Amino acid sequence: MEERKGFGSNFGFLMAAVGSAVGLGNIWGFPYKMGANGGFTFLLVYIFLGVTCGFIVMISELAMGRKTGKGAVEAYKIVSKKFKWMGWLGIASAFFILFFYCALGGYCIKYVVLNVGDLFNAGFGSNVFAETAAANGTSTGAEAWSALIANPTEAIIYGLIFVALTMLIVLGGVGGGIEKVCSIGMPALFVALMICIVRSCTLPGAVDGLKYMFIPGWAVANGVIEKSPNLFQVFATAGGQMFFSLSLGMGAMITYGSYLDKKENIQKNGLLIVIMDSIVAFMAALCVLPGRFALDPNGDLGGPGLLFVTMQNVFSRMGSIGPLFGILFYLLVVFAAVSSSISLLEVIVAHFVDKARDAGKGDKRKAYTLIATAAVSLGCVLVCADAMGTSNFSPADLLGITEPKAWAADWLDFWDCISEGIMMPLGALLMTFMVAYEIGPEFVKNEVEQCGNKFSMYKFYRFCIKYVTPLGLLLVLYGQIKSFFF
Ligand code: TRP
Repeated sequence: MEERKGFGSNFGFLMAAVGSAVGLGNIWGFPYKMGANGGFTFLLVYIFLGVTCGFIVMISELAMGRKTGKGAVEAYKIVSKKFKWMGWLGIASAFFILFFYCALGGYCIKYVVLNVGDLFNAGFGSNVFAETAAANGTSTGAEAWSALIANPTEAIIYGLIFVALTMLIVLGGVGGGIEKVCSIGMPALFVALMICIVRSCTLPGAVDGLKYMFIPGWAVANGVIEKSPNLFQVFATAGGQMFFSLSLGMGAMITYGSYLDKKENIQKNGLLIVIMDSIVAFMAALCVLPGRFALDPNGDLGGPGLLFVTMQNVFSRMGSIGPLFGILFYLLVVFAAVSSSISLLEVIVAHFVDKARDAGKGDKRKAYTLIATAAVSLGCVLVCADAMGTSNFSPADLLGITEPKAWAADWLDFWDCISEGIMMPLGALLMTFMVAYEIGPEFVKNEVEQCGNKFSMYKFYRFCIKYVTPLGLLLVLYGQIKSFFF
């Protein structure tokens, strides 16, 4: 029988898992939410939830994957009677997230190209966008963004380039493709982010961004946001963000765990993934917010506007060096997105490849990667063609809704709402019920302690998964549904 090849080293596993966690969520979700939800208070709540919920679900998923040595679908089937269908929830979530994630990744590639063009067209001394901006008084980021929205064909091409990139890496397999790319790319991303932080924080006026981030109540007092949220909202927002950011609740960590060697320490790895993901989110905030407050103080703070309008403005107003930082920044965003999308695609591919191998059909990675990629491409084309709801076939158009909420306004948000809003938090909530009350926390203990490893936090783990984590996740689910659908 064909051998199931996994990660070659613990470092490679760690970089791949951190790569899965670090993505678009860190770079544009976290900075905005932190400032709008009480700054430093948000950070404390985020860390608290990261330890009591994120870390708990993380090691449960890793242990489940490694114990069974299977992708999400088979893993659930093996361990549970009541929840054996949940792996399919994960596969469906992976598709839905990929649909919009690849579209956004494509947009980011476009912005790399745009900044390269800027660099060469104008030479190092000037900046095409800054000049047009000065001539007609519009903002440069807004120009780039509306041009992209007005030209869905271009968006589709970039989206498909991103899909192809994801496919090429997954075709290489876990050790040969995913691990290799992440082992080099993640440290590079870290360095690139450092460089961007230094530039951003030394801009005149950058200190306002730091105040927005750290001083509770500053954003309201200075009219940046209308009113401060209550503590309940802060918890729900921080929880939802933490959750999406750690790639939990849909089998991604089960899948990666299934490729992890028995001698590796799950407790330590789980903790490191949570810590590194939070550090990168925090670093992204240090890069994005000071830049925004220094060079585009009236610009968008959240959503696509932050990444595709405000940040582009920051680079076009930075002077002759701007395009270089633009290239560096959007490249790092593209990489953060690719390292996440490969893990999403692997959730799907791993399942079908395992099944074929177990049926004695040999290694079918190529075939299934191509099939899954074709399906993802269709979803991605739909999102790009819809162009943020400006088409005449957005969900609201098709359903005849005249004043749509976020979920119906465009196809991007539609897939986001279903996956991030419902399926992921629901998936994690049910998985904690399963571990706590059906198969028992000893299941996880047993797997963590393989090969003489210690599970020193077991008592804490058991207490959390029985009482704290389900409550936390219930709150997250409630908060997500409320913010996405009402
Ligand atoms: N964690 C990713 C981010 O922060 C997004 C994501 C959500 C994800 N669920 C996932 C990535 C599952 C990989 C697998 O952007």
